[in-house]
Amino acid sequence: TLSYELQGSGPTLLLLHAFPLNRTMWTPQVQTLSSQFQLLTPDLPGFGESDLCDGPATMQAVAEAVHALLRELAIQEVVVGGLSMGGYVAFEMFRQNPQTVRGLILADTRAEADTEEARANRRAVADRVRKTGSAAFADEMTPKLLGRTSMQQRPELVAQVREMIAQARPEAIAGAQLGMALRPDSTATLRRITCPTLVLVGEEDALTPPAVAEAMQRQLPRARLAVIPRAGHLANLENPAEFNLHLREFLRGL
Ligand code: MLT
Repeated sequence: TLSYELQGSGPTLLLLHAFPLNRTMWTPQVQTLSSQFQLLTPDLPGFGESDLCDGPATMQAVAEAVHALLRELAIQEVVVGGLSMGGYVAFEMFRQNPQTVRGLILADTRAEADTEEARANRRAVADRVRKTGSAAFADEMTPKLLGRTSMQQRPELVAQVREMIAQARPEAIAGAQLGMALRPDSTATLRRITCPTLVLVGEEDALTPPAVAEAMQRQLPRARLAVIPRAGHLANLENPAEFNLHLREFLRGL
């Protein structure tokens, strides 16, 4: 089962967090947008307070768990927003049950599956994190997630992200890595996504750079793209004012 937070009232915005974080990464969005919308933020399997999956946390299994949560809450239709790994889950939710998805927000993510090299790297990370723990992984991962502006100017944000990763269970990190390695390519799904779509990307995102977001937007039938200044891969945390502005405008236009 998944732990979650449900705040506010109005149309539901479901926000799916990045790897290897948890639902609290959406705090700046929940605080600002819950005056007009109902925000549902689950901890994905193994992260935060949610139970671990048995074995790899495949995107199929994670999306099924999120659909089960929607059924439990009797929510029939949502705008799905996913950042990075959350975006991979959002593609899978769309494939499993497109009627649930009223609109889609794809932030700092990509449609492509992993290369063989990326898969091998994920298997190595899964092995390593089980041996050396989450704190060492947090040191390695934080500078990749945050943009150069945050790394240079926002020590409190650097510490917050590092702590969030250090708190993740090594088994959750390993399971998500192995699950993401198995994810299918979602490129062919893009042209079938005919609901309104918002693509967001941090201008300093080194993991899923703006060029990746632009290519994705071109293949989506009804997508707008916005580049978030002074932000890296965690654009919602690094520049919440700008990120929220685009979210609100998109949600109002639905
Ligand atoms: C994330 O932020 O969720 C990760 O960068 C996703 C990934 O490892 O592909």
